[in-house]
Amino acid sequence: MYKSIVKGIGHHVPPKIVTNKDLEKLMDTSDEWIQQRSGIQERRYVDEGVGNIEMSYAATQMALQRSNLKAQDIDLIILATLSPDYTFPGSACFLQEKLEIPNVPALDIRQQCTGFIYGVSIADQFIRTGMYKTVLVVGTEVHSTGLDFTTRGRDVAVLFGDGAACMILQQAPENFERGVLSTHLWADGRFAKDLWIQNPSSREHPRMKPEMFEDASWFPKMNGKKVFTMAVKKFPEAILTALKANNVTLNDIGLFIFHQANIRIVQAVCQGMGIPMEKTYNNIQKYGNTTAASIPLALSEAWEQGKIKENDLVCLSAFGSGFTWGSALIRW
Ligand code: COA
Repeated sequence: MYKSIVKGIGHHVPPKIVTNKDLEKLMDTSDEWIQQRSGIQERRYVDEGVGNIEMSYAATQMALQRSNLKAQDIDLIILATLSPDYTFPGSACFLQEKLEIPNVPALDIRQQCTGFIYGVSIADQFIRTGMYKTVLVVGTEVHSTGLDFTTRGRDVAVLFGDGAACMILQQAPENFERGVLSTHLWADGRFAKDLWIQNPSSREHPRMKPEMFEDASWFPKMNGKKVFTMAVKKFPEAILTALKANNVTLNDIGLFIFHQANIRIVQAVCQGMGIPMEKTYNNIQKYGNTTAASIPLALSEAWEQGKIKENDLVCLSAFGSGFTWGSALIRW
């Protein structure tokens, strides 16, 4: 058995900034409401012609450069997204084509806001067994082309933004001190419809019908209160499980990266667990909820700003649609 170490991390966000004030022009909402309820000030939206493929390619270039690796060193791509460019094939295949590394396996995974942690966990298992040596894990989302920008959809539309980020994991000898120490994953499908998109659906005959435009069933629907209360319960479960598995305490952690769903969720979890907010890195104010991209996007910025040093213990945790949740503990 081997260990996975983080070789590099990168991110890319589209240049177009959309502020809360911009959204006020489209729906009955206010900058004050959005900031108070979520902490979000602005988010990024892609321009036409740009998708997950381009964004994740740019993020990968940054990670390759930071890790002194070439695309040809990658021997597995795992790409987490709930908003793939096409229904099939997965966006990982298109990214592979753009990276010009034919024959490398390319795997799309879902798991929404927990997608990146699921991706790290899968990568880690492949590296531990020796099957792959250098694995690219991407989280990427384009939300802006699928949100309801009328007052009907305001509870969801104001929360989400576009972006991509990634991590390159590489095999290290088993007794290596640093690396991915553990990952823990959960799901509870009893809550699947509390945050979901119903249509188009292969259960429908045909899967796309004109009335779906009218009934708005192709837009995300969310039971906001349920998501909030479950998130506040499940983040601590994920974090405490990671700590216990590694025999470390909250004080040993250098930095906590929470999935950036809502700053009030992060605050409530930190308050409940006794984690000082200074030990967290948050960028939801700039990007909104970028789902699978949110954790690596925060990690990449935190690293850039010198908030993560070699040997630091970094705890990642996520909660989201599925419901899914999970944690990863990394000795950087
Ligand atoms: N602007 C203005 N008003 C809005 C609004 C918006 N964008 N969205 C909803 N409202 C209104 C509601 O219609 C409601 O009006 P009413 O009282 O007249 O019925 C009022 O604001 C309060 O709505 P409510 O749903 O009670 O607000 P809330 O305090 O629960 O906050 C969320 C709503 C969505 C911010 C909150 O539930 C939340 O953060 N949930 C978790 C969301 C999340 O993290 N999702 C991603 C998970 S990965």
